[in-house]
Amino acid sequence: MNIFLTGATGLVGGELLVTLSRRSEVDKIYCLLRSQSVIEATERLEKVFDLHEDFFDRNKVIPVLGNLFDDNLTSVLKENEGLNDIDAIIHSAANTSFSRFNDDLVEKANIGGLTKILLWAKDLPHLNTFLYIGTATICGKDVKDRVVHEDESPNLNATHLVKYTYTKMKGELLIREHLKKEQILIARPSIIMGDSRPIIPRSPVILWAMATINHLRLIPVNEHAQLDIIPVNYAAEAIVKLLFANRQYQVYHISAGEAGSTTALKLSKTLEAYFDEMPPFNFISKSLLNQVKHWTKGKLQDNSELYSYREYLDYWKETFEDKSKLRVLFSGLDPYLDFMELGHVFDNARLLEDVDIPNSVPADVYIASSMNFVEKLDILEGAIDP
Ligand SMILES: NC(=O)c1ccc[n+]([C@@H]2O[C@H](COP(=O)([O-])OP(=O)(O)OC[C@H]3O[C@@H](n4cnc5c(N)ncnc54)[C@H](OP(=O)(O)O)[C@@H]3O)[C@@H](O)[C@H]2O)c1
Repeated sequence: MNIFLTGATGLVGGELLVTLSRRSEVDKIYCLLRSQSVIEATERLEKVFDLHEDFFDRNKVIPVLGNLFDDNLTSVLKENEGLNDIDAIIHSAANTSFSRFNDDLVEKANIGGLTKILLWAKDLPHLNTFLYIGTATICGKDVKDRVVHEDESPNLNATHLVKYTYTKMKGELLIREHLKKEQILIARPSIIMGDSRPIIPRSPVILWAMATINHLRLIPVNEHAQLDIIPVNYAAEAIVKLLFANRQYQVYHISAGEAGSTTALKLSKTLEAYFDEMPPFNFISKSLLNQVKHWTKGKLQDNSELYSYREYLDYWKETFEDKSKLRVLFSGLDPYLDFMELGHVFDNARLLEDVDIPNSVPADVYIASSMNFVEKLDILEGAIDP
């Protein structure tokens, strides 16, 4: 099998690349990389394998230069005759930013870029499978505190917390416009955080949110809302196995499901056990977030409820000195708190039925082995580059 993979330098794509490269059924993996030269692209691929000391087989893993933003990407791919024998495309590249400042880039990559890939893919002579890495969060923000099933999305009436999930929903519709039904496979991971092995994860992205919450300790979020979180190694294993499985469905959640989900409260217990010198966690109503923001601007009214948590406000003053740092942290955290409040659990019965894989271990359990990595994260740096 010859595979074309996008997003190989990312959290999910990197893990997919390493997992795929170990499979004997896979002959070649062509990786789309936005690099200036083949040498630079090869160096980037080398880094992906070096991170966990995996073997980089240069005969098997081949860089293809290209950027989702290039107007001529479709024709560049069409003209590359070496790609005519592709059997499967895995499209993992995306702009995953939650920041509204990146909305245009998110749309350009996730809708415009995908369209260019599809216009090339639909004419490939041997394409059996187009595996789109979607996201379970396309169900939107009106779905709350319940188990969500695959067939509920894509729903054009869903309302979205961020542009990112909207573009991922549109992406699924685009694929159905361009490809034959039997070519389409959609994997929708839930929230991917860290790695369940005691190794450096490929990206600190969602771990950043957890590390920030760990520093703040007074958190305006419902601590009992369910959180469907999986480690990246589980996501990659499930997705690769899905590619080779006998499948009954077109769309699969790659998720923790009811048995493997966690809560902010459970995660806080894991954090408290390791960072035992910090104040205990205190979860307050999400409605107090505005008061927190006012306080960080020095504009909180005297009789505000937030003052009943004065020991935490003193702790913040002592820890962060400058309130502007707290403003930066809370603005980065904002969309994460919104997602945490939704209480989504993504049903994983289809995955467990068709793929030989156990349920994912709950995040509050597996994340215990990453505490030293969480400790070293620069939370301000992460907030500045959302
Ligand atoms: N992480 C999660 O929690 C999560 C959950 C559900 C679904 N997903 C889905 O999983 C997929 C991968 O996400 P991720 O977390 O791995 O994201 P990521 O770490 O941000 O990686 C994104 C990848 O896309 C590439 N990319 C971005 N813009 C590009 C462009 N203009 N041209 C070419 N390549 C471009 C990046 O390349 P560069 O290295 O050159 O920037 C990188 O390899 C996405 O489709 C996302 O929607 C992720």
